Amino acid sequence: MRLQTAIDNRHSIREFEKRKVPKSVLKKLVNNAAKAPSASNAQPWRFYVISSSKKRDQIAAWTNETFKKIIKDKSPKKSNMKTKEIQRIAEKFYDNLGDAPNIILVYRKKERNEESYIRPNDISSVSAAVQNLILSAVEEKLGTCWVGTLKGSEKNLAKLLDIPSSHEIIASIIIGYPKKGSKVLLRKKKKLNEVLKFI
Ligand SMILES: Cc1cc2nc3c(=O)[nH]c(=O)nc-3n(C[C@H](O)[C@H](O)[C@H](O)COP(=O)(O)O)c2cc1C
Repeated sequence: MRLQTAIDNRHSIREFEKRKVPKSVLKKLVNNAAKAPSASNAQPWRFYVISSSKKRDQIAAWTNETFKKIIKDKSPKKSNMKTKEIQRIAEKFYDNLGDAPNIILVYRKKERNEESYIRPNDISSVSAAVQNLILSAVEEKLGTCWVGTLKGSEKNLAKLLDIPSSHEIIASIIIGYPKKGSKVLLRKKKKLNEVLKFI
């Protein structure tokens, strides 16, 4: 697949088939992720790929709790969900993380006594890896959604998955085969002249 096609066809997917992604495919995606650039070539990323149904169900439940806390008592505008359609999709999605069969958690490995510039650089490096993974997933006909609402569950996740304390969670990506017939929410993108300035 041409890179341009993958970029054009990538949209966040929030409804999945239940069948799991084969381990070989997940490995390929992480391998591509790990080819990303990283500050000082530190390659600070560490990937935890969850296929255990029990563990993914627990994570989905925590995410739903976080979502409910966020939207509780908030008007759709304040909760960042500007339309009723988006709120409806979100509620359905968070009920069980769209049935996504796999979750990929991406951590950064902290160094001891690291300089203050290391963390922001590491976050950029890990994000570059995540984008490689997400675009590679399009080629495999997989859907993904980056889920920020796993933030807040760091301690629970560390305990559940036995994550070392030297690891800091940066991104959580749910992944699976998009549910047949489900409608993809096409989000409006800013015009180029709103985000680009040639100097
Ligand atoms: C850092 C980050 C966090 C996100 N967190 C969530 C989330 O918690 N829930 C969700 O449904 N989508 C989440 N998204 C997906 C965005 O809503 C989505 O990328 C955006 O609306 C644009 O749509 P598109 O990905 O289809 O182009 C997140 C995306 C990013 C990059």
